Amino acid sequence: MARDYIKVRVPATSANVGAGFDVFGIALDKPNDIIEVEKSSKLEIIIKGRDAKYIPTDPRRNTAGMVASILGKKVRITIHREIPLSSGMGSSAAPAAGAAFALNEMYDLGLPPEQLVRLAAKGEKVASRVEHADNVAPALLGGFVIVHKNRMISLAPGNIGIVAVHPDIIVSTRDARAILPKKLSLEDVSFNTASAASMVVGIMRSDISLIGKSMENRKIEERRSRLIKGYKHVSKSALDSGASGVTISGSGPTMIAVCDMDERETIACAMEKAFSDSGVKSEAYITTIGKGAEIIG
Ligand code: HSE
Repeated sequence: MARDYIKVRVPATSANVGAGFDVFGIALDKPNDIIEVEKSSKLEIIIKGRDAKYIPTDPRRNTAGMVASILGKKVRITIHREIPLSSGMGSSAAPAAGAAFALNEMYDLGLPPEQLVRLAAKGEKVASRVEHADNVAPALLGGFVIVHKNRMISLAPGNIGIVAVHPDIIVSTRDARAILPKKLSLEDVSFNTASAASMVVGIMRSDISLIGKSMENRKIEERRSRLIKGYKHVSKSALDSGASGVTISGSGPTMIAVCDMDERETIACAMEKAFSDSGVKSEAYITTIGKGAEIIG
């Protein structure tokens, strides 16, 4: 039923999950952004909460605003931010996904999930400059998502402990993409394909050990780790304290570790300490693979 107002919760996300560059993404149970949309006489964006002053409110430069603009809707969108900016946790994807989801419900548009994902990816492009759907897809669909061109496959594994540690370092997606090699050797492609294939099996079996091992990848992690001070120490500390695997979340600088649910606090402390030993402040999110966008009001 069409409505004049809607409030949605939309999750942070972690793209790539190791070898699935621009292909895999997971929804995180926290942090979340809250998006309110109400009908108005013009398209207007209001930003509140974390890092609000750094986010453009011009609708054509805002990821949620771009989605509403594409749909030609005059609405006031209020974004209550909790997801840290430029963190590698889908901070520009969440408002785009939230706006697409909210407007679809509000105007009874009946857009199927694949179209919502494409729409949100177009919105996100105003921030990331490159259209990739591995953050907006899990933000909308939840769980673990495989993005294959216009086909999305979403899997909902059981309780998988995730620790996401966000260091106080600025890494732009543009720089993190520019540092990647333009070509991979056949051997590296073969290695990454094997990791990606076993990751899917690990997710389908909710096998934390296999998921962790399958995060290993060639070239992407190695290159991007250069942008994250303390990367090696943090990675080793996570594994030494019980994580089954650790990788860079999206384009970084957040690092995520996968582990049993009851090991998350210990691993979070070890990773934060390792960043601190490297002279970098950080904050940890104790989380798990969660749901996609949902209506909360
Ligand atoms: N797949 C994208 C990348 C995600 O790694 O550049 C950016 O958040």
